[in-house]
Amino acid sequence: MTQTHTIRRPDDWHLHLRDGDMLRAVLPYTSRDFARAIIMPNLVPPVVTAADARAYRDRIIAAIPAGDEFTPLMTLYLTEDTDPADVAAAHAEGLITAVKLYPAGATTNSASGVSDFTKVAKVLEKMADIGLPLCTHGEVTDPSVDIFDREAVFIDRVLDPIRRDHPGLRVVMEHITTSDAVDYVMAHDSTLGATITTHHLVINRNHILVGGIKPHYYCLPVAKRETHRLALRKAATSGDARFFLGTDSAPHTDANKLLPCGCAGCFTAANTLSILAEVFEQDAALDKLEAFTSLNGPAFYGLSPNEATITLVRETPEYPPHIDTPDGPVTVFDPAMPLNWTT
Ligand code: DOR
Ligand code: ZN
Repeated sequence: MTQTHTIRRPDDWHLHLRDGDMLRAVLPYTSRDFARAIIMPNLVPPVVTAADARAYRDRIIAAIPAGDEFTPLMTLYLTEDTDPADVAAAHAEGLITAVKLYPAGATTNSASGVSDFTKVAKVLEKMADIGLPLCTHGEVTDPSVDIFDREAVFIDRVLDPIRRDHPGLRVVMEHITTSDAVDYVMAHDSTLGATITTHHLVINRNHILVGGIKPHYYCLPVAKRETHRLALRKAATSGDARFFLGTDSAPHTDANKLLPCGCAGCFTAANTLSILAEVFEQDAALDKLEAFTSLNGPAFYGLSPNEATITLVRETPEYPPHIDTPDGPVTVFDPAMPLNWTT
């Protein structure tokens, strides 16, 4: 008999859907398997006001394929001009689920991010008051800091001071890539959570650089050495409620990836659950998959887990090497290992 594994329907706590044709091309891969997703606001121009978030939410809802049930959980992009009252009103109306902090220049479309953290203190104070979580892209942008150290330095220089200044502020360390981040989460209370991507559970920096440069494995934060990947695997498969899935699935066309200065991002929406089932099975932790994909995230955000379920079947999944979009092909993340579970 075919082996199956049923879990509550997952949510993705960190997702890039983009807009327009790209949104319509990539959303079906998420809405097929996921009930909800935290939608990143790094559009051009970014989603900075409640009005922007409302309009973007409506465009996403209009792009959901008929028959799929999917709820976009909107975020605002924190700038030095963000108005605490606008944030509070958007939260009170149920429009937004989090605010996203990008250090200025840290990654794709982050030019409007924060340089002077004292300028966002009033917004953070308001968020701590109303219980609205802050999602952080945890990398410093100081050019003198090595790119492989930028997450660890962010913890010391930015994150820890913010959390001390705003006790009670709920913070998600997004797409963590180091044992330093795992250790920091483990050393603190449940006001702190962390998302882990599918790809950072699979690749280390050798995948990007050994035997020729592999632009499709380049993302930010960049994958680190193997010891860090193993620390992420241990955290994700532990069942610890502070760690949950945020795929950071980030579509870029091949034309934009395969450049002398290519874009950062791995498109994992099309095969994420197959890869995760493989990872958890390899680590003898299939029984912890549901906590990571479907229980810990809602608990952190104060939401109920989904009632619906999804059944993984032990069969070789079929997914395309790339998806076609009107903007050009987008390569699907290659896990570089056979996959044995399909949804
Ligand atoms: O690899 C990444 N891609 N990391 C980010 O932080 C942004 C994302 C994107 O928007 O493409
Ligand atoms: Zn992201």
